[in-house]
Amino acid sequence: MPESRTFEIRTFGCQMNEHDSERLAGLFVARGLRPVGAGDVADVVVFNTCTIRENADLKLYSALGHLKAEKARRPDLQIAVGGCMAQKDQDRILERAPWVDVVFGTHNLAEAPRLLERSREEGPLVDIWPAPDPDAARDMAPALYAVRESDFAAWMTIQTGCDNTCAYCIVPSVRGGEISRPLDDLVNEARLLAARGVTEITVLGQNVNSYGRDLTGRSPLFAQLLRRLGDVDGLERVRFTSPHPKDLREDTIAAMAETPNVCPQLHLPLQSGSDRVLAAMRRGYTAERYLARLSAARAAIDDLHVTTDIIVGFPGETEDDFRRTLDVVAEAEYDSAYPFQFSPREGTRAAHYVEEFVPAEVVRERFLRLKDVLDRSALRHHEAREGRLEEVLVEGPSRTNDAVFSGRTRQGKLVHFDPSPTLKAGSLVDVRITHGAPYHLRGTLESVRRGPRHKTRLTVLAS
Ligand code: SAH
Ligand code: SF4
Ligand code: F3S
Repeated sequence: MPESRTFEIRTFGCQMNEHDSERLAGLFVARGLRPVGAGDVADVVVFNTCTIRENADLKLYSALGHLKAEKARRPDLQIAVGGCMAQKDQDRILERAPWVDVVFGTHNLAEAPRLLERSREEGPLVDIWPAPDPDAARDMAPALYAVRESDFAAWMTIQTGCDNTCAYCIVPSVRGGEISRPLDDLVNEARLLAARGVTEITVLGQNVNSYGRDLTGRSPLFAQLLRRLGDVDGLERVRFTSPHPKDLREDTIAAMAETPNVCPQLHLPLQSGSDRVLAAMRRGYTAERYLARLSAARAAIDDLHVTTDIIVGFPGETEDDFRRTLDVVAEAEYDSAYPFQFSPREGTRAAHYVEEFVPAEVVRERFLRLKDVLDRSALRHHEAREGRLEEVLVEGPSRTNDAVFSGRTRQGKLVHFDPSPTLKAGSLVDVRITHGAPYHLRGTLESVRRGPRHKTRLTVLAS
């Protein structure tokens, strides 16, 4: 019997979570549910959550609070909470928000539609798997059924989980250890996507450099993967995130440099510039080694765009440690960066270093100083691009202002330019950069290289 109910997925957190939501949407569609229309209220609302920092948790409980009255008005409304925070909080979610119907974890995302159906008969359900089923994680068949947000730029998860033990980080405990998908499956998925008109693929993993280590029992296969993606017909841009600095090897740098469709973009999370803090964080590199790898990458790859993540206020961080971070930032010359204030996560080592916690006002002050330096560095990089002609993949009207079109350069920089009535999303164009701002570039459209490659909407790929 056809299902006429509608669903909506609200996603928090990283790109991997965004892509998990696309896969979940594909599973709902396969079971006959429809995505809710703009402005309508769905019959099934799913929160795919994040718990990387405390404010991610607060955001979820506030969003759930907003739905409480709606649920009282419409008892048929079903609410599910899944993802990283659900994996961490488990039963506590129903204790704090008893109007929730289903709680599922990171390892049983594919069960969510069935759990929602069961809960219509049985009432509220919590089903959290303590660990992944490795075969299911490797298979990731639902990736092919994903309802994707974009028709021309797709995400591809190559590995789940993380084998590292960074002292501040909750990810390994909520996502499990590293499980890589087979190389041939990934190349096939990329081929299918490219055949449907996808121009750009962003490869996702918590530590992409170690992709394949669990498959071979020895060496990683990341460089091979990049080279194989380089042979996929029609695939014009490949990006990836995140590599771990300790595992960024020469073969990856060489594969980036020698594979024309791999974009000149590297997100290399620094976290701290102080060797003492890096050791306490258990990051496995020193500032010197980090900078050496970065300069090897810059030497091999022309016009490399470099971004990073930095944590300020890790327990025990002194003013001197923080200055070392500023020194590395000055030397690394980042194009842009994401600074974070340390947030203790229950179950991580660093959460126990209570005596060494840095006072909140000191953390805030360092954060603002760092942000100022990073913003100025980003602005310098953007201004340096004024006058250049950049290849831009058109995304269409900008999210914040539909009187402006936006798109991305090969380096991944956001560009705004005047709308053109005939220009379609997915086109590849040349834009002359006229102005560099801290978070984007502004330019004028000079020529259209080609229109969109996709012919149909890339909704359910395998249908
Ligand atoms: N696997 C990725 C990180 C994913 S989490 C990597 O290693 O690069 C994204 C970023 O969140 C991290 O790089 C780190 O800077 C930040 N982060 C993680 N845990 C944090 C915490 N407890 N407090 C503050 N920032 C944190
Ligand atoms: Fe977290 Fe470190 Fe793994 Fe990244 S590499 S997910 S920061 S444990
Ligand atoms: Fe958040 Fe989980 Fe990603 S904690 S950052 S959604 S892996």
